[in-house]
Amino acid sequence: MQQGQFISFEGTEGVGKTTAIDGLCQRLAQHNIDYVRTREPGGSALGERLRQLLLDPSTQINDDTELLLMFAARSDHLHQLILPALQANQWVICDRFIDSTVAYQGYGRSFGDAAMLTKIEQLIAQFVPRLPDLTFWLDLPIAEGMRRAGKRGAADRFEQQALAFFERVHQGFAAQHAQYDKRIQRIDAGGDADSVGERVWQTLQDAVDLDF
Ligand SMILES: Nc1ncnc2c1ncn2[C@@H]1O[C@H](COP(=O)(O)OP(=O)(O)O)[C@@H](O)[C@H]1O
Ligand SMILES: [Mg+2]
Repeated sequence: MQQGQFISFEGTEGVGKTTAIDGLCQRLAQHNIDYVRTREPGGSALGERLRQLLLDPSTQINDDTELLLMFAARSDHLHQLILPALQANQWVICDRFIDSTVAYQGYGRSFGDAAMLTKIEQLIAQFVPRLPDLTFWLDLPIAEGMRRAGKRGAADRFEQQALAFFERVHQGFAAQHAQYDKRIQRIDAGGDADSVGERVWQTLQDAVDLDF
């Protein structure tokens, strides 16, 4: 039987992560694959409470504290939800994971500062016992993602950042992709949602030996 896969989706605001995950989950269900769908920050009860704090525009927080809260949320999420699900041979489909931390906290907040990237690497090494098997980086020009996201409701604390911030975040995803080019698959997020969904599904089938 196919081992449960741990799959994350990454990318800047509005690129279509939620939409692509909808599509993937539909396909998994059609193939009777047992999965849990989750997100970061969040996913567990405590993680979701930390998410509220992290996304609230009124939260005043320094970069280190933001980083540590992200990892606190992630640690709880891993131990409460992700690891038990994988242990039970379920697939885990996660909306954002460690690459978002590198991109947002490491590049967006800290301009790719080497000391910050080292802190993040150390936190991953110490507190993230399991990495995704496969990560889809949905790549789209920032302006196009903003245009898509603009159709939604009020902006959260991250969405309110300036364009230059998101350009750095995008550079962060590109750098992660260059470094981990096997785990992280770049998906062209342009075109309609069905085309993007098809690209994700094809890439999954190429990467994972599915027995159907
Ligand atoms: N391929 C696409 N083409 C056009 N619009 C899209 C596409 N994918 C998603 N959208 C729309 O763009 C907005 C942002 O998509 P969403 O999936 O919420 O992005 P994310 O989760 O990455 O922020 C939504 O209104 C969604 O319906
Ligand atoms: Mg989303």
